[in-house]
Amino acid sequence: MSSKAPIGVFDSGVGGLTVVKEIMHQIPGETIIYFGDTARLPYGSKSKETVTTYTRQIVRFLMAKDVKAIVIACNTASAFALETVKAEFDVPIIGVVKPGAAVAADTTKNGMIGVIGTEGTIRSGIYNEFLSLTNPQVKVYGKACPLFVPLVEEGLIDDPITMEMARRYIGELIEYDIDTLVLGCTHYPLLRKTIRKIVGDQIALVNPAYETAKSLKQVLVEHALENDEVLKSDHKFFVSDGAEKFKRFANSILPCEVVETKDVNIENY
Ligand code: DGL
Repeated sequence: MSSKAPIGVFDSGVGGLTVVKEIMHQIPGETIIYFGDTARLPYGSKSKETVTTYTRQIVRFLMAKDVKAIVIACNTASAFALETVKAEFDVPIIGVVKPGAAVAADTTKNGMIGVIGTEGTIRSGIYNEFLSLTNPQVKVYGKACPLFVPLVEEGLIDDPITMEMARRYIGELIEYDIDTLVLGCTHYPLLRKTIRKIVGDQIALVNPAYETAKSLKQVLVEHALENDEVLKSDHKFFVSDGAEKFKRFANSILPCEVVETKDVNIENY
């Protein structure tokens, strides 16, 4: 595998772009192939079996594009399917949960950590698992926020309805005296300003994207796959539905221009 090969990144929709942004910032020499499974979103309310089937198809699609490594930029798919696809495919694959849990364990001072995520991620108990391994003393309070993903996908980021939902979802976590809140869904960093207004300045917000990009860099170095030449960026974007809408959104958050987004029939993979 050539170090010039691209990196595959995927999510159920636009959320994984928060991870892409961080990868572009930390390792600008790398080329990204992104897939957003917009036709089958949300993943958060689906079963482990369904999300694993979707994840396998996307990994096959990305491998057909000759990627040198894959980032599952989706907490739900990382929670449900990372270990399965790591065992099945011969390419380095990383998720976002382990890096996010590591930062949260380092950040908390009082050992009280809140985690917000999709129903699937919270139900899986995966943050709890990783956090307790790092520090058995921590107490983890999870809260599923199922309406956040559709609100982001609809572009209602600064809308009063989003503020009201954030108040309902996060209000009860604040009661537990948490000092750290993990944004355990890659869509949520896009709601950071709203969430900050609800939690105030005393609670640290953890976005796993930063640590994920750092882990990716480390994995590339370990496999001698780091691209040391800065190439002319040739990032490519694919979705399973709504290519134009996705392109507009991507252009509003990424530091590069997204010229084209293509539709893919992912069920063929
Ligand atoms: N952005 C994804 C996550 O991090 C999933 C959102 C969804 O499709 O429910 O979990």
